[in-house]
Amino acid sequence: MSWNEAFADHYEEWSTDMTADIAFYVELAGHADGPLVELAVGNGRVAIPVARATGQPVVGVDTSPRMLEQAMIRAAAAGVRLELREADMRDLRLDRLAALIYCPFRALLHLNTWADRRRVFERVAASLRPGGRFAWNAFAFDHHIAARLDGTRKLGPVPHTIRYALGDNRVDLVRDNGAVSSLWWATKNEWLGLLDVAGLELEALHGGFAGEPFTEDSREYVFVARRPRGA
Ligand SMILES: C[S@@+](CC[C@H](N)C(=O)[O-])C[C@H]1O[C@@H](n2cnc3c(N)ncnc32)[C@H](O)[C@@H]1O
Repeated sequence: MSWNEAFADHYEEWSTDMTADIAFYVELAGHADGPLVELAVGNGRVAIPVARATGQPVVGVDTSPRMLEQAMIRAAAAGVRLELREADMRDLRLDRLAALIYCPFRALLHLNTWADRRRVFERVAASLRPGGRFAWNAFAFDHHIAARLDGTRKLGPVPHTIRYALGDNRVDLVRDNGAVSSLWWATKNEWLGLLDVAGLELEALHGGFAGEPFTEDSREYVFVARRPRGA
């Protein structure tokens, strides 16, 4: 498992700078006519505003008991309903087909093999209504950024070092206490290949959360796909 529970400590601080995605996922949820599901829901950072804006519960799947506990407490404080499930997104099984499944904050990059990602995409395709949407975002690897950041030590929110393993297309956050959280980046064609094998179709690829076009200079993939209506 590439997510280390130690990273549940101070999660609000780790994610302080990530706010631009919330309006994007809220807007998508507003267009969804049916169940809403967040993969790797974490502490509900996105699911809580989605549930508040839509007045619908969000099914939140995550493997981390500590993140789910934070989500439960935060949802209760916000007065919204999340249906939290401790489960692996690779084994996604829903009681009702979803109108929207989404996975923010690059969480699909915690899956380190093609086979794991393919499994998630296939489970998503099987869990969506015809016409239902799947949305996610992930960073586009940039060797200038990697060269700049590799070996950088940061003190907040807890002391850690960023390390790149280029041959494994992996970036690690290594806490001083030894805990490691890893992300495996993927290329645009790998993402498109996953849609292809899962039988999903691309609706949009944006270069940011304001819906800007994806260009070769974009550094974030913001994907919206859908299950074909006839499927
Ligand atoms: C960076 S957090 C993202 C949390 C939340 N979606 C957000 O946007 O703030 C990554 C989350 O992915 C979860 N995770 C990692 N691998 C997972 C898997 N295979 N299935 C379900 N959750 C997973 C971790 O437990 C963690 O809560």
